[in-house]
Amino acid sequence: MKTTIANVHKHVNETVTIGAWLHNKRSSGKIAFLQLRDGTGFIQGVVVKAQVDEETFDLSKKLTQESSLYVTGNIVEDTRSPLGYEMQVEKVELIQEAVDYPITPKEHGTEFLMDHRHLWLRSSKQHAIMKVRNEIIRATYEFFNQEGFVKVDPPILTGASAEGTTELFHTKYFDEDAYLSQSGQLYMEAAAMALGRVFSFGPTFRAEKSKTRRHLIEFWMIEPEMAFMDHDDSLEVQEQYVSHVVQSVLKNCKIELNTLERDTSKLENIKAPFPRITYDEAIEFLHEKGFDDIQWGDDFGAPHETAIAESYDKPVFITHFPLEIKAFYMKPDPNNPNVALCADLIAPEGYGEIIGGSERIDDLDLMKQRYEEHDLTGPAYQWYLQLREYGSVPHSGFGLGLERTVAWISGIEHIRETIPFPRLLNRLYP
Ligand code: 4AD
Ligand code: MG
Repeated sequence: MKTTIANVHKHVNETVTIGAWLHNKRSSGKIAFLQLRDGTGFIQGVVVKAQVDEETFDLSKKLTQESSLYVTGNIVEDTRSPLGYEMQVEKVELIQEAVDYPITPKEHGTEFLMDHRHLWLRSSKQHAIMKVRNEIIRATYEFFNQEGFVKVDPPILTGASAEGTTELFHTKYFDEDAYLSQSGQLYMEAAAMALGRVFSFGPTFRAEKSKTRRHLIEFWMIEPEMAFMDHDDSLEVQEQYVSHVVQSVLKNCKIELNTLERDTSKLENIKAPFPRITYDEAIEFLHEKGFDDIQWGDDFGAPHETAIAESYDKPVFITHFPLEIKAFYMKPDPNNPNVALCADLIAPEGYGEIIGGSERIDDLDLMKQRYEEHDLTGPAYQWYLQLREYGSVPHSGFGLGLERTVAWISGIEHIRETIPFPRLLNRLYP
């Protein structure tokens, strides 16, 4: 009977066949240990000379890394393996022999691995990261569906910028100019006025010349938008959502977190509520810590975010940023019109901003004023004004960067390993 490695627990003391690749191998005179992977997991197959035919034993001894196989054997419990099971191999059939697989178990340089990303994805660490990413996506849909949100898909080809006029990828749209989406937000606001509570999940593009461990050119964002919800209401949804995601990964990715050697004690107490500090308090704190380079009105850099995050063992909201350094649509605080009703959520352990969000301007005249200040003209923006004309309501939303969240929860150094095929400043291949 054919099965997968993830399903071997259903076949203890039964003979099954698994389609797999040879991940690694050890052998001595009368025994061979085959590390097998099939995408659903990793299992050890033990081939004992005295228990198999000669052909199977000879083949097992000379199998090369990444050769594809059908392996048949008996499944037994094995408490030493992370999976809890191993296979006593009875028969091995070669599908294709892989000759000179370039990624060997020895250390390789980052550029070499990135050039071979299409193969590097097969390694146990990369496999674990992709499984964590998948669990975050699954838990995202679960959370927003439970909370009554409707999934809405904003366009990727757009006529205007959502976050600012720079950092856009330009393309032709027949005779017109078009841009790849930086954020679906403006469309999600329209959707919230139609469906109440909505969320999107899709690729976004930023032509940023940043080469840091936190920046991708193409990344995926989850963007909820909620009618009749103010800034504080939105923070509550954000902390509930992030807690749900972290707890889901802890529960459903135990093997993967073990492979990644993640210190899970740092994730266990990620539960709502999260601490909140204002931008003013953050500036004061940074001055106390000796960061003389930063003044009121400056945006935070990575070292500032890391210093702030170090004081907490949970993600921290920094709220009420100066209006002038934030996007045109953010609502000014009625108690202090120099700051916005907004927040960035900073992950612990130096992973930086994972969410940016705000309450949106709902007043038509104020939005018109902002359009003038930001020089937003042309038909691409006119429809967005109409949302403030016909039954405008208080509303808020936010965007969570998937890859930064994967990096944080997986505990990996660089964002390039959090997406199957990263688009970086100097890399469009593979
Ligand atoms: O803070 P940002 O720019 O916010 C927006 O785009 C809003 N329109 C979202 C909204 O309110 N609907 O981006 C949101 C998040 C950041 O917090 C960060 O996690 C991620 O997107 N992000 C990036 N991730 C990887 N590479 C980049 N270059 C990123 N830029 C932003
Ligand atoms: Mg931001």
